[in-house]
Amino acid sequence: MRLFIAINLSEKMKAALIEAQNDMYDGGVRGSFTAEDNLHLTLAFIGEMPDAEPVTEALSGVTFTPFELSLEGLGCFGDLWWAGMRPSPPLTALARRIRHALAAQNIPFDRKRFSPHITLLRRARGDMPGIGIVSVSMTADAFSLMRSDRGRSGMIYTELARFTADEG
Ligand code: 2AM
Repeated sequence: MRLFIAINLSEKMKAALIEAQNDMYDGGVRGSFTAEDNLHLTLAFIGEMPDAEPVTEALSGVTFTPFELSLEGLGCFGDLWWAGMRPSPPLTALARRIRHALAAQNIPFDRKRFSPHITLLRRARGDMPGIGIVSVSMTADAFSLMRSDRGRSGMIYTELARFTADEG
């Protein structure tokens, strides 16, 4: 199974992201828009693993206290458009702890530098209009081990385990 670790987003934050997608669409941009249920912030990408158990075990030792996440800006990697997050030392620290925990158990993961983003649109076509994004904030009090499967009409992400913050 294909695994990754992510923060799932509040309904309010997802609504702001859907609004940005709608503005893109209304501005004539086409492509593969991420479905509302699939919007997430990836902390680490593991990829194919035969068994999730060692990953769950490694993650259960990761501790953190709740912190604030805020949307900030839009950007692209080629034809992939994303919403950014306001720079957040606790977010960077959590991603680092998770990656250390995986490395300590010899669980392979993508070692590309952590660049916090929420993918809104893949394979974008058309000129991007100058759109804004509402600056919504949420409290990150958990992260999740997610499984990714290719469905008939797009990706299906399933939460396999949820790891909650210690009281701050
Ligand atoms: P992306 O949205 O920028 O593609 C599930 O695929 C999640 O893992 C997505 O958020 C994806 O980021 C992220 N991811 C990070 N590294 C990846 C990789 N090497 N292959 C596929 N997905 C990756």
